[in-house]
Amino acid sequence: MFSHLQAAPTDPILGLMAAYSQDSRPFKIDLGVGVYKDEDGHTPILASVKEAEARRSRNETTKTYIGMAGDPGFNAQMDRLSLGDARALTDSRVATAHTPGGTGALRIAADLIKRCRPDATVWMSDPTWGNHPAVFKAAGLTVRDYPYYDAATQSLRADAMFDALSKVPAGDVVLLHACCHNPSGVDLAPEHWQRLATMAQTQGFVPLVDMAYQGFSTDLDSDAYGVRLLANALPELIYTTSCSKNFGLYRERIGAVSVVAANAEQTVIAKSHLLSTIRNNYSMPPAHGALIVAEILGDAELKAQWLSELAAMRDRINTYRHLMVSRLREAGVERDFSFIDRQRGMFSFLGIAPEQIQRLREEFGIYMVGSSRANIAGLNQRNLAHFVDAMATVLKP
Ligand code: LMR
Repeated sequence: MFSHLQAAPTDPILGLMAAYSQDSRPFKIDLGVGVYKDEDGHTPILASVKEAEARRSRNETTKTYIGMAGDPGFNAQMDRLSLGDARALTDSRVATAHTPGGTGALRIAADLIKRCRPDATVWMSDPTWGNHPAVFKAAGLTVRDYPYYDAATQSLRADAMFDALSKVPAGDVVLLHACCHNPSGVDLAPEHWQRLATMAQTQGFVPLVDMAYQGFSTDLDSDAYGVRLLANALPELIYTTSCSKNFGLYRERIGAVSVVAANAEQTVIAKSHLLSTIRNNYSMPPAHGALIVAEILGDAELKAQWLSELAAMRDRINTYRHLMVSRLREAGVERDFSFIDRQRGMFSFLGIAPEQIQRLREEFGIYMVGSSRANIAGLNQRNLAHFVDAMATVLKP
């Protein structure tokens, strides 16, 4: 069975996480894996989560199976968080299931697409999250890309993107990032979402929106603009969500997959396939993390506390976007990094060369993905000067 195998390649993001943790240099900086870090370089458990967990452990009365869709209370809360008061919800056109993380949600979406439309191609932005193509290919689907990020202008290649998407046929799937595009930090504006909605309607392709960072760009509602617009405008949509980042619940693996169908009757049928896809995969999701999220969202006080903790995480990242740009300028770095301050979410491409990325790691203990994707949340008052000095050194002509 195994004797003929060569070792599988190391995951470029998770491999970096392991390499960083083995580095014993005290001045090292982790700008790699997409986890939030506070001023102490720590990924904290939110106070709202701690309190919800305490309440759960006091009040929980059973650990019996939870069912294929997970906790109905969690799913209903997630529907409201993602879609607000979108008509699709009141029209009973949405079916949601809790999944093990956002990646689990994507894999269920992929298997469901394979079941419904085995020949569908899934179109992804160039670039996209490194694991996106792998998840969809593992489900047996064909993956292709559409232009998205222009490295020369550090912005959206809108014309090229719409040109490529105008050729996507009916029945194919177009994967979109709701906000905080991973890896570029460049997001679609409302007018881009509106144009996409019209194209999907006219051409008959189905958007799949990955919303892994709701609340990390502007606020919960603005960050969900695209998914809400598409849910109301289109007969069919798939979207996935994650509670890893906005609730800081990474290792609890909490996400959800939602399908929006043309009417209530078709939604019931689509849901039956969603659930049977889940049953074939892992039978049912773990409950603990989802029940924490449901507890927070169902309690006005805890929800308010969570919202302010979420705002603090978002503000800290945006502050460091700003500080990074101004400190590099003050250090005499000639290259213009002002785009970092215009982008949103955890990531931006620094746009530096592979040799410079390697020098940052080897000489200065600064870790980032080989594409130059940097997690801005890894910066803090204690390491910013080291980062700026290192950048100024490797960028010296
Ligand atoms: C990232 O992009 O770094 C995160 O989403 C973590 C992961 O699983 O890759």
